Amino acid sequence: MPDHYAVIGNPVAQSKSPLIHAEFSRQTGESIRYDAILAPVDEFARAVADFRQQGGRGLNVTVPFKLDAFRMCDRVSGRADAAEAANTLVFEEGHIFGDNTDGAGLVRDVTSNLGFPLAGKRVLLVGAGGAARGVMMPVLEREPCILVIANRTPQKAYDLQQRFSDHGKVVAVAYHDLRGEHFDLVINATSASLYGELPPLPVGIFAPRSLAYDMMYGKGHTPFLQFARLQGAEYLADGVGMLVEQAAESFFVWRGIRPRTDVVIKMLRPEA
Ligand code: ATR
Repeated sequence: MPDHYAVIGNPVAQSKSPLIHAEFSRQTGESIRYDAILAPVDEFARAVADFRQQGGRGLNVTVPFKLDAFRMCDRVSGRADAAEAANTLVFEEGHIFGDNTDGAGLVRDVTSNLGFPLAGKRVLLVGAGGAARGVMMPVLEREPCILVIANRTPQKAYDLQQRFSDHGKVVAVAYHDLRGEHFDLVINATSASLYGELPPLPVGIFAPRSLAYDMMYGKGHTPFLQFARLQGAEYLADGVGMLVEQAAESFFVWRGIRPRTDVVIKMLRPEA
C-alpha cells in the first residue's frame, strides 16, 4: 500500500499539486498516493481528522486553511512560526507537525533556478497578507541590503516591519512613498493578479537588470508582469517555479528525498 498524502483546500480542483507529486513519486521511486481534498470552509478540522483516521501520512494545505492548519499543530518549524501559517502537515504518532515551505520555495526559485542572488540587493515586497508574511523570513535570511514592504493598507505593512525588524533592514511604506525609489527585485505578493488588477505602483521602480516576480501565475503575463516589462524590468518570472519548489520542499519534509524540479517546471510551462 503506498503512503497516502493529499492537498486540502477550497477550491482545490485547480491545484497542480497532485500532478507535481505524481511526477516526484515517479522520478524518485517513492511509493506514494497523492489526492486533492475539497474541504467545506467550516469543516477543515473534521476533514483532516477523517484523512488521518484513514491512515493519511501528510497534507499540503492551501487557501483558505493555512492559518487553521498552523493552529491545529502540536509542534511547528521555525519557518511556519514566522509565517504564522502551515502549508505542510506531517502526521506523526499521536501528534501533528506543521511546516511552511512557501518562502523556501520562492527563495530557491529566485536564487537557484533564476540565478538571482539576494545578498546585498534592494528588494520590494508588494502586499502584506499571508503570502507576503510567509516569504519575509526566508528572504531576510539571504541578507538583502533592504527589504521594503508596500501595501494598500499601510498598517499591515507596518505590522510586518515590527514583527521582522530584528532579522534585517525592513521598511514599511505606502505605495506613493515608492516614487523615486529603485529595486533589484520586486515581488508581487498581493492577490491583485487573481482579479486581473495591478497594485498602484509608481513608474520607475525597476533598477537596471532587475527581476520582477509575481507569486501568481496563469495563462500569459499577469498585469504586474506586463507593467514590469513596460517599465524595463529585465527579467520576469511567474509563480510556477515557486509552486514546484515548495512542493519539492514538502516532499523532502515527508520523504527525506529532494526530487528534481527543473523537469517538472518545464512540464508545467511547456512554452518555455
Ligand atoms: P494572501 O494570503 O494571498 O496574501 P490576503 O491575506 O487576503 O491573501 O492578502 C491579500 C493581499 O493582496 C493584501 O496585501 C491586499 O492588500 P490590503 O491588505 O490592502 O487588502 C493585497 N491586494 C489585493 N488586491 C489588491 C489590489 N487590487 N491592489 C493592491 N493590493 C491588493
